[in-house]
Amino acid sequence: MIKKGISPITENFLNLFSPDRAALAAVDTGQYDIEESLAELAELARTAGVEIIAKVVQNRDAPDSAHYFGRGKLEELKECIDANEITLVIFDDELSPSQLRNIEKILNPDEHAVDIKVQAMDRTMLILDIFAMRAHSREGKLQVELAQLKYSLPRITGQWRGLSRQGGAAAGAGTGGRGRGETKFETDRRHAKTRIRKLESELRELEKQRALLRERRKKNRAEAVAIVGYTNVGKSTLMNALTDAGVLAEDKLFATLDPTARALILPDGRKVMLIDTVGLLRRLPHHLVEAFHSTLEEAAGADLILNLCDASSPDRDEQLRVTAELLDELGCESIPVLRVLNKCDLLEAQALDLPIIGEAIRISALNGQGLEDLLQRVSEALPKNRGEARLLLPYALSQYGATFRAEGRVDIEDFREDGIYYEAVLPVYLLEELEAYLL
Ligand code: GTP
Repeated sequence: MIKKGISPITENFLNLFSPDRAALAAVDTGQYDIEESLAELAELARTAGVEIIAKVVQNRDAPDSAHYFGRGKLEELKECIDANEITLVIFDDELSPSQLRNIEKILNPDEHAVDIKVQAMDRTMLILDIFAMRAHSREGKLQVELAQLKYSLPRITGQWRGLSRQGGAAAGAGTGGRGRGETKFETDRRHAKTRIRKLESELRELEKQRALLRERRKKNRAEAVAIVGYTNVGKSTLMNALTDAGVLAEDKLFATLDPTARALILPDGRKVMLIDTVGLLRRLPHHLVEAFHSTLEEAAGADLILNLCDASSPDRDEQLRVTAELLDELGCESIPVLRVLNKCDLLEAQALDLPIIGEAIRISALNGQGLEDLLQRVSEALPKNRGEARLLLPYALSQYGATFRAEGRVDIEDFREDGIYYEAVLPVYLLEELEAYLL
């Protein structure tokens, strides 16, 4: 049973109520594959610990502006809920605050009941819940809290229980926010706005620090390879396999919410940063992409991107396409991309011949198959940033010797009368800096 009015503002929308018996609800407008979308929603719900009991789909040109479903379909949904003791309905769209309110009113007709019997939730709330469960870094947590608050703000009113749960019981949530409640909602709203401003300023500060780190990495010329892809395709597993990074990998969506960077040695001896990024979703609401922009920006700052997909999934082409689209949106067009098919151990040979994946690199992050080839291809695809050089450095610049050894390879170092002679392989930026001393 769902208790009204006991959760703090940004507590997960779901965690008080689990395990839930849920129905998925969707309007099929024919604009996208409803089956795929519902499968993804079911997977998201499973990740959040929800049990899916039923699916209710209505074919319409567009969702009803007041109730999402038409009247008849809402009745059918209600019957399904009663017959199956369902406590949660997850809508496969973003619901407006009024749709959400209207639906909850219809699903919970007893205005005076202390408990909301059936909770309505939309796709965005579910995604935010999972983001909240998975965020580890300070920045990740702040981003999730901000996204939840922004999403909740217009919904702080009357019956809806998201943000108003904080003082909902005392405020008479479920009764339309009358009397004392109205004041309480106003207070909640003010607090939320203040908190949003505070979070935004903290995030700006953190973003500055992250930019500094990126700058430092650029200066040190540590090249970055970002693993980007749909959620659950095996990004963390690949990262682990390649670097022994120990990044959390599990068979649930969004196991990774924070970009994690680890050092990786390539076959040609170059040391690069391998970056694990947030998993993408097919119908990720656009404002959520914005909320997580700084984590995705890691990909935009990379020198090479691995677009990873799950070869065993019927959606693999779609996954590659969505990822490529998002990378374009992020302004990554100029960065080389390698398409990588993971989980090939699960594939039967004939399925590999689809044209779109013909040139992709085939691997299994789980059993190590194809990883050597992948590393080789990474070496080849990474823009060359080193060159062989002979230099004669004045003694006044002798401090460069340590940098040469740290960032390059010194073959000969000879202390001569007129300076220090080097034969070395060095990063391009050092060669540019010391151009005057090249022989
Ligand atoms: P998010 O963090 O949610 O974006 O997921 P991810 O892309 O990092 O996926 P993760 O590495 O967590 O792997 C998801 C599941 O797929 C785990 O159960 C892995 O064991 C499994 N998996 C990863 N790579 C392979 C593979 O090559 N073969 C098989 N059979 N399973 C794999």
